[in-house]
Amino acid sequence: MEKLLTKIKTKSATIGIMGLGYVGLPMAIAFSNKFNVVGYDVSENTINHLLNGRSHIADVLSEDIKKYLGKSFQPTNDDKTLGECNFIIICVPTPLTDEKEPDLSYIKSACATISKILRKGQFVILESTTYPGTTEDVVIPALEKTGLKAGKDFGVAYSPERIDPGNKEYTVEKIPKIVGGVNEDCTELAAMLYESIIDKVVKVRDTKTAEAVKIVENIFRNVNIALVNELSLIFEKMGIDTWDVVDAAATKPYGFMPFYPGPGIGGHCIPLDPFYMSYAAKRYGFIPRFIETSGEINEFMRVHAVNLVEKGLKHVDKEMYGAKVVVMGLAYKKNIDDARESPSIKIIEELANRGADVRVYDPYVKSIKTNVGEFYSEKSIEDGLMGVDCAVFVVDHDVFREMKVKGIKELMGSPVIVDCKNLFDGDGESSYLGIGKGN
Ligand SMILES: NC(=O)c1ccc[n+]([C@@H]2O[C@H](COP(=O)([O-])OP(=O)(O)OC[C@H]3O[C@@H](n4cnc5c(N)ncnc54)[C@H](O)[C@@H]3O)[C@@H](O)[C@H]2O)c1
Repeated sequence: MEKLLTKIKTKSATIGIMGLGYVGLPMAIAFSNKFNVVGYDVSENTINHLLNGRSHIADVLSEDIKKYLGKSFQPTNDDKTLGECNFIIICVPTPLTDEKEPDLSYIKSACATISKILRKGQFVILESTTYPGTTEDVVIPALEKTGLKAGKDFGVAYSPERIDPGNKEYTVEKIPKIVGGVNEDCTELAAMLYESIIDKVVKVRDTKTAEAVKIVENIFRNVNIALVNELSLIFEKMGIDTWDVVDAAATKPYGFMPFYPGPGIGGHCIPLDPFYMSYAAKRYGFIPRFIETSGEINEFMRVHAVNLVEKGLKHVDKEMYGAKVVVMGLAYKKNIDDARESPSIKIIEELANRGADVRVYDPYVKSIKTNVGEFYSEKSIEDGLMGVDCAVFVVDHDVFREMKVKGIKELMGSPVIVDCKNLFDGDGESSYLGIGKGN
């Protein structure tokens, strides 16, 4: 481990990043600025793209790839190249199985790959989001099958990734990094590695504490969003605008943090992580009712958005069956191109199942797969809105926020607008409905 310390200090360490997606690629580029980096991915497509100097992740510029390619950044499909690395950082997906249980197959497969090249003096860090205990129960046993001992022959740490895709202010370097090692030396060494590229590193007691930090952060958001979603359903009935209430409550200088209602939660983390925690809790005989209820409320908001479409159409004497409805926004959040677990998927399915004639528009996402088929984005906002009976605005992309209700209605057939993200002020008419709006 002494040698690794010197290699970090002299910037002569080689860093291997496994999985070059939303998390791994920005991390690989951040390290390439100071160290030699091996970027390993199982996807040939991804590696070919990168070898041609092209980025497939919106937050990473192709210029940055070109800047380091062939110098400090080496993208590869060849797992043997990981043998050259002093540190190997695992950034592979952690989805759910069909039964909504943690799918650790990518982590296990990454560990199997590492086991083939693992030698004394290497250091493995897991960054993928997972339930507390994964590093100890899954990663270490897999790597120790080599006969080497974690914490003695090779280092192990867990360090959750907290990136916020699309956020220009908080880039990899500016987001404080949590680090927990399998022992104190491992925590120190992993912290030192990240300190060479990240402004602030926070050391915690062990790997499971670090794993729990990430899960807590995401469950905290899930639960708070569910709370405000539930309140918004009540306030809608009471004729109270939830958005006004939250903004006013947020003027309290302590003890309150604003969360806003919406059509549900998307992305690769927040909707999935409660299931990871639930799974782990149940193994200890605990049913996490609070966490599971939050998930159910957030899921229901998609149905609620479609209920608002139906209500709006009734105001203009239209039935859902056969109505032309455009879903505006496919990404899971504003100004990004990632549609994984996006609320739009369920909204499209629910609309189609109730008989609507659905089209979609998103300036960033070209198409979206649903269980009622694949939908391709219209070419422009105007093409999306032209002649439709209802427009459901699911995402608060900046280009949507710049629009005016009057202008939107002029393009539509019958002018029903459902605003899931408080994009517009409304026009006082019953054909404009919004989640949490109280109209
Ligand atoms: N996307 C986010 O905003 C975000 C934020 C924080 C944490 N996370 C977590 O980070 C992890 C990665 O997420 P992501 O969004 O980057 O996923 P991603 O799907 O964008 O990228 C994962 C990459 O790993 C590659 N891969 C799969 N198996 C591999 C293997 N065995 N060896 C090497 N490469 C392999 C895939 O080809 C893909 O390129 C997940 O656990 C996720 O929950 C994601």
